[in-house]
Amino acid sequence: MKILAIETSCDETAASIVEDGVNEIATVLATSRELHEQTGGVVPEVAARKQVEFILPVIEGVMKKAGQNLGYYEKGKEFTKDDIDAIAVTVGPGLIGSLLVGVEAARALALAWDKPLIPVNHLVGHIYSNWVKLYGDNNTSNTSDETSLPKFPALVLIVSGGHTDLVLMKDHGNLEYLGGTLDDAAGEAFDKTARLLGISQYLGGAKLSKVAAECKTTGMIGKLPRPKINDDDYEFSFSGLKSAVKRIAELNEYPVDEIASEFENAVVDVLVKKTIKAATDHKIENILLGGGVSANKQLRTRLKNKADTLGIPLFVPPIELCGDTSAYIASAAYFNNTPKSIEEVNANPSLQIDSIV
Ligand code: KG4
Ligand code: ZN
Repeated sequence: MKILAIETSCDETAASIVEDGVNEIATVLATSRELHEQTGGVVPEVAARKQVEFILPVIEGVMKKAGQNLGYYEKGKEFTKDDIDAIAVTVGPGLIGSLLVGVEAARALALAWDKPLIPVNHLVGHIYSNWVKLYGDNNTSNTSDETSLPKFPALVLIVSGGHTDLVLMKDHGNLEYLGGTLDDAAGEAFDKTARLLGISQYLGGAKLSKVAAECKTTGMIGKLPRPKINDDDYEFSFSGLKSAVKRIAELNEYPVDEIASEFENAVVDVLVKKTIKAATDHKIENILLGGGVSANKQLRTRLKNKADTLGIPLFVPPIELCGDTSAYIASAAYFNNTPKSIEEVNANPSLQIDSIV
């Protein structure tokens, strides 16, 4: 079964074709990130306007790329709508104007091509980054152990710009929310800290982490709080940490790389401790990581070390699938194959991870 998936929840416009929820055939992604870097944050209208411009070329592009990757052109064939079995689209959470561009395009395509239309929750999509095998990746598994796909029940940590969620995944379509952040999401804390340290104005998590990796000194270890780290719950709170960074930065006592390193350590300490607590409190087979912050090297290695100690296989997405893209939207649609009528597929900017789309 080949699904064409569309993702436009924030500043990306992406389309993928994925077979049987696992094998990526092609992806095309356009972004307006450089515009938001200039303004120091995403201006929703600017993002949506760019998406209107990008959406048709991106869809045409992915169909063409699928034909190329499947070797159709050598056989004098083209990849057409007849090769597609269903359309999937992100319906939320995200920016309303951005979501509408993808949703309207998907509705129009489903109607014109007479295909089933499957709405997908963006946060659930991130989880399925652990199922997708990238096109051209000869390694048949993207997992940290040699068995192939995640097994249930699984404990999932979603860490993105808008969410920090711990979820118990009992099966496809059966998610139990355990807890999440009370204020800033982990990615948001990285971004705000990167801005106040002068590292980057927009989505600075990866850049902050790079600066932190250059730090050779240890003078600041333990100087920042690890909010809620020993609390007997699955909640997080990162806004106080950001304020603590602000106070320390104003003292001008520590270099930026040392503050960045201590900040990253503090966030990762909390994320790892709470995830391992949730994993040991429940009887689970696997731990899964997903969302933009799962690209963080510290988080990946330290969670892996802990999971190894417990003997629980950890799945981390390939770096290409940590941020917002469409391949895992197709995967989520395949494993939660509940098509809806065109009128029922609507953008919902405030969808939660355990809500039915
Ligand atoms: O999932 P995502 O692409 O978008 C949302 O759905 O929010 O996540 C983006 C977030 C941003 O906050 C970005 O700074 C953060 O992920 N991020 C990182 C890293 N790469 C991306 N944070 C820490 N370390 C990284 N290497
Ligand atoms: Zn995301």
